[in-house]
Amino acid sequence: MNHLLTTERLVLRPVTAQDQTWLLAHWTAPEVRKFLFDGATPSPAEVTEAVEDSVRDFAAAGYGLWLVRETGGTDLVGTAGLRPLEDLGIEVLYSLEPGAWGKGYATEAARAVVEYALGPLGLAEVLAEVDAGNATSVAVVERLGMTPFEVVPGLLGPMTRYRGTR
Ligand SMILES: CC(C)(COP(=O)(O)OP(=O)(O)OC[C@H]1O[C@@H](n2cnc3c(N)ncnc32)[C@H](O)[C@@H]1OP(=O)(O)O)[C@@H](O)C(=O)NCCC(=O)NCCS
Repeated sequence: MNHLLTTERLVLRPVTAQDQTWLLAHWTAPEVRKFLFDGATPSPAEVTEAVEDSVRDFAAAGYGLWLVRETGGTDLVGTAGLRPLEDLGIEVLYSLEPGAWGKGYATEAARAVVEYALGPLGLAEVLAEVDAGNATSVAVVERLGMTPFEVVPGLLGPMTRYRGTR
């Protein structure tokens, strides 16, 4: 299965061990990490584990964490990925470098990942779990047309769970 995803403006490729330095810097930026890690700052070991999980999951199941760059560019602008959400199913996640916010890139990357999940990967549904206070992320899942089905308590406040289907 081809794990490289392309959109009108973006290229998404699976993360590798060589990306750990970039991913650590990205995920520890205060504006980026807040809702991704329940207010905590991920350690280098946690980033290494996330990369190793992704490499293993791509090999075994065809999904994991993609890094995003602009078509024709070399700098990474963010991430989009698929990972298990407890025992409920597979969730989509995404993040952008703050300098890349406000261009529609997160929606474009997340849409490509959801379409991959519901298409080539063959999932019946994709989930998302978003802190209710993360307005920009709520807007992304709404633009993707995902449907809220549950609100659960989180460390930073209520989190809404969404599902998207074919
Ligand atoms: C969540 C996050 C990725 C959203 O980023 P974002 O830039 O707001 O979302 P998008 O990339 O989809 O961009 C949408 C915005 O771009 C605008 N835009 C500008 N040009 C556009 C274009 N050509 N096409 C589409 N949208 C465009 C849209 O109007 C929208 O702006 P608005 O919110 O003012 O209406 C970002 O805030 C982030 O990285 N947060 C930290 C990580 C995080 O919390 N992740 C989610 C965990 S659940």
